[in-house]
Amino acid sequence: MENFTYYNPTKLIFGKGQLDALPKEVQQYGKKVLLVYGGGSIKRNGIYDDVIGKLNEIGADVFELSGVEPNPRISTVRKGVGICKQEGVEFLLAVGGGSTIDCTKAIATGAKTDIDMWEIVTKKEKVTDALPFGTVLTLAATGSEMNAGSVITNWETNEKHGWGTPNTFPKFSILDPANTFSVPRDQTIYGIVDMMSHVLEHYFHHTANTPIQDQFCESILRTVIETAPMLLDDLENYEYRETIMLSGTLALNGMLNMGYRGDWASHNLEHAVSAVHDIPHGGGLAILFPHWMEHVMDENVNRFKQLAIRVFDVEVAGKSDREVALEGIKELREFWNRIGAPSSLVDYSIDESTVELMAEKTVGARPEFGNFKKLTKQDSIEIFKASL
Ligand code: NZQ
Ligand code: ZN
Repeated sequence: MENFTYYNPTKLIFGKGQLDALPKEVQQYGKKVLLVYGGGSIKRNGIYDDVIGKLNEIGADVFELSGVEPNPRISTVRKGVGICKQEGVEFLLAVGGGSTIDCTKAIATGAKTDIDMWEIVTKKEKVTDALPFGTVLTLAATGSEMNAGSVITNWETNEKHGWGTPNTFPKFSILDPANTFSVPRDQTIYGIVDMMSHVLEHYFHHTANTPIQDQFCESILRTVIETAPMLLDDLENYEYRETIMLSGTLALNGMLNMGYRGDWASHNLEHAVSAVHDIPHGGGLAILFPHWMEHVMDENVNRFKQLAIRVFDVEVAGKSDREVALEGIKELREFWNRIGAPSSLVDYSIDESTVELMAEKTVGARPEFGNFKKLTKQDSIEIFKASL
């Protein structure tokens, strides 16, 4: 392993009825609360009323920012920053999925500076101060509820970037699996692909002696593979929602990532696709990740072989290491397709005409990206073409 420091200050409040903890948690940060949410799902499923009821218990002065887009936009962040400054907001509460939480992280940071948030998202300027914020998670996918990362899109420049600071960890996150009952089938599938992808981004590295981390990763993957089909047949099953929700959080709260650096090229590739085409993050990953695997597997075929054997029970007798590895990748792709995730960029009406532009976005100002294998713009072009 490499040396590491592990730090995660988010209080995770998990389980049935845990929204009851909200008043006590918010109270310690102030009365002026900005409630941030998306396109209205929380009004349809009743979570909005429940949250407002809880905030009323402490006499909170509630301001609202609604309409946070999936793939949240810098324009919405700026709107939220404006409200915080004008109203003297003391605390932000994100109620929704990763997009709402990521947007809230950016607003909380923007509220503490006069620098435009896009300068911070693109790392041209550095600001680490932020207003405190908490989350009520309604969709299991990104892990944003227990990490400091945030992903923001700029539609004027077709750019989508991840960023974060030590102050963009939520103070608390309330995870009641019942709040995910109403997540539609397609979003449930995207969430499953996303959390599995986070585990896989960790898994492919060259650091020696990571047996605990490997088996944490493998156990999450096996659990999700076992649970996902049952959940998709029974979307309001509490236990299946509970398993998937905890999996999503553990997949990207830093716990898997002790002592080595993961890869993250597939996320970079997907962010470039959704910056140009505004597709769902998990849908893009289901298409791109297996192609990335085939593109880079010869860097360290044993990692792929280990995944094939331990997660997909691939038989080894009479096969070369490479054949076993390839079979594992095929199993992953087939699993995602079987549960209903897309398999080709053509499913999103993407053709060769934007490959060059998307590849340009994967590198930006840097010559290379990814850690397992350093990739160039030419690698991106090849992976995108294979994904059509
Ligand atoms: O907007 P509303 O009306 O709330 O509807 C949302 C949205 O349409 C809906 N939804 C959420 N909870 C629901 C529900 N519908 C019914 N019932 C519920 N309980 O689901 C749709 C998708 O929501 P969104 O928040 O966009 O999904 P997700 O959680 O997958 O977040 C995706 C965003 O997170 C970024 C992605 O790039 C993308 O922008 N990521 C953030 C990461 C992080 N911060 O750590 C890491 C990830 O790799 C990812 O890049
Ligand atoms: Zn992701």
